[in-house]
Amino acid sequence: MASSAATLPSKMKAWTYLEYGKSSDVLKLQSDVVVPQPRDDQVLLQVVAAGINPIDFKRMLGMFKNSDSPLPIIPGYDVAGVVVKVGSQVKKFKEGDQVYGDINEKAMDHPTQFGTIAQYTVVAEKLLALKPKNLSFVEAASLPLVIETAYEGLERCHFSAGKSILVLGGAGGVGTMIIQVLNPSYYILIPSQLELMFILFILY
Ligand SMILES: NC(=O)c1ccc[n+]([C@@H]2O[C@H](COP(=O)([O-])OP(=O)(O)OC[C@H]3O[C@@H](n4cnc5c(N)ncnc54)[C@H](OP(=O)(O)O)[C@@H]3O)[C@@H](O)[C@H]2O)c1
Repeated sequence: MASSAATLPSKMKAWTYLEYGKSSDVLKLQSDVVVPQPRDDQVLLQVVAAGINPIDFKRMLGMFKNSDSPLPIIPGYDVAGVVVKVGSQVKKFKEGDQVYGDINEKAMDHPTQFGTIAQYTVVAEKLLALKPKNLSFVEAASLPLVIETAYEGLERCHFSAGKSILVLGGAGGVGTMIIQVLNPSYYILIPSQLELMFILFILY
């Protein structure tokens, strides 16, 4: 059950790293992390499900540390959860709303210190949408960053009706989304062995 603003704890559990490195070396479950407070344009979410993407381990390895936020860092970009507190300027959401989104507007330009692999996270109102009722929290949390990437990829290659596209890694997170937003007559899928098994499983 979601907390209300009146019953919010001051501390939470969160996966955190204090230095860059391999996750097995640096990632620790902390139980005394201060629950972040939303700014005027942000909401505080009780996290129900969070997604991990390749950028999380690349960030943890320090691959873009020059444009990262300061350590310690709670990883995680994708989230689905329940609004438990709203900032004074928030208009779209209220306590109790079920929402989902990618909490970082720019993936590699100072992504937030307070990621989604935690019991609570803060996020700007503009980066969230109401969770569709026909999606579970887990399903919703699996979507934001991969859909953004798929759309950005299609935009960058100026894809349009009548053109052909080659989708590599089609059974992966991004590839799956590209295939789903395209009309099947517009793509050719070159599957790896595991992907071929996945496709055969879906088809038969
Ligand atoms: N996830 C995001 O939101 C996001 C955002 C920006 C950029 N990216 C980048 O986009 C790429 C894909 O990300 P993802 O999240 O879709 O990863 P993913 O879920 O791990 O999918 C990777 C896909 O690539 C295939 N693959 C791996 N090595 C291959 C090889 N040597 N030859 C052919 N296929 C190979 C895998 O096939 P098998 O399953 O058969 O191994 C899998 O289908 C990564 O480089 C990632 O950094 C991702």
